[in-house]
Amino acid sequence: MNVATSIDRFRVLRAALPSPVGFVPTMGYLHDGHLSLVRRARCECEATVASVFVNPAQFGPTEDLASYPRDLDRDVEQLSAAGTDLVLAPPPEALYPAGYDTWVTVERLTERLEGGERPTHFRGVTTVVAKLFNLVRPERAYFGQKDAQQALVVSRLIGDLDFDVELVVCPTVREPDGLAMSSRNAYLSSVERKAAGVLYRCLQRVEGMYRNGERDAERLRDAMKAILEGEPRACPAYVSVADAKDLTELKTVDRKALVSLAVRIGRTRLIDNTVLPPGEALL
Ligand SMILES: Nc1ncnc2c1ncn2[C@@H]1O[C@H](COP(=O)(O)OP(=O)(O)OP(=O)(O)O)[C@@H](O)[C@H]1O
Ligand SMILES: [Mg+2]
Repeated sequence: MNVATSIDRFRVLRAALPSPVGFVPTMGYLHDGHLSLVRRARCECEATVASVFVNPAQFGPTEDLASYPRDLDRDVEQLSAAGTDLVLAPPPEALYPAGYDTWVTVERLTERLEGGERPTHFRGVTTVVAKLFNLVRPERAYFGQKDAQQALVVSRLIGDLDFDVELVVCPTVREPDGLAMSSRNAYLSSVERKAAGVLYRCLQRVEGMYRNGERDAERLRDAMKAILEGEPRACPAYVSVADAKDLTELKTVDRKALVSLAVRIGRTRLIDNTVLPPGEALL
């Protein structure tokens, strides 16, 4: 496995890879969720490229860019063990040199949910993903369903800007209690870590209600709010039952829906989601 920290070196190493190339973009501090994407890419592609880049552009001014967990040596070890062929791990100034001035934005879809609370977040995501697609030129790109709105936004980016990339959305990998794996879980104290199980309990409750015939979206949202109220450490940002295509809130679950929530536990902001009917693919 090669690790490139400069764009020039990356281009040389990329040119030598066989097709199709599968690409897994990450912000590092890897866990089994990330590695599941690498393994999937490896199964389906001739070569696998991963990027490790804590993208400053997707953090808001009061967010955790400076304290974001980083461990490149461990990431490189894990990527190598999972069968990655090439890693791009550039410093921020390699992607955003002084005078950088070009931004890619997806409208509407990015205004809701995560974008409602983090107004510049998706502009940062779509800009870096567009740059990385141009550098890596992958045939397939692997993203996690944990970040469902991100996957929908990237799908829109690919379609609208004619990127010749197939988007593969992979299932959310969970801890034994159901908590979605996330690099930011590292911020949780042990009491907070126990409280964090509440997100998955909300999703399970909604799936159960749906299976029992409940189709009133407001009742599903209320059920999540009630469970969150029972967890004193949980401070909900939003609970949503939305049309899985455009993310508008539903009144009745009469089409494919994305059930999602964002919850602050202490200083850590966690997100999770599921699709209705249960087991349906997001895209
Ligand atoms: N538990 C998971 N299961 C499957 N994919 C995941 C999981 N967590 C993250 N991913 C995917 O890995 C890719 C890179 O995500 P990223 O590096 O932001 O990790 P993260 O764990 O989401 O970090 P953070 O906690 O900061 O949000 C994204 O496509 C994301 O959806
Ligand atoms: Mg993330």
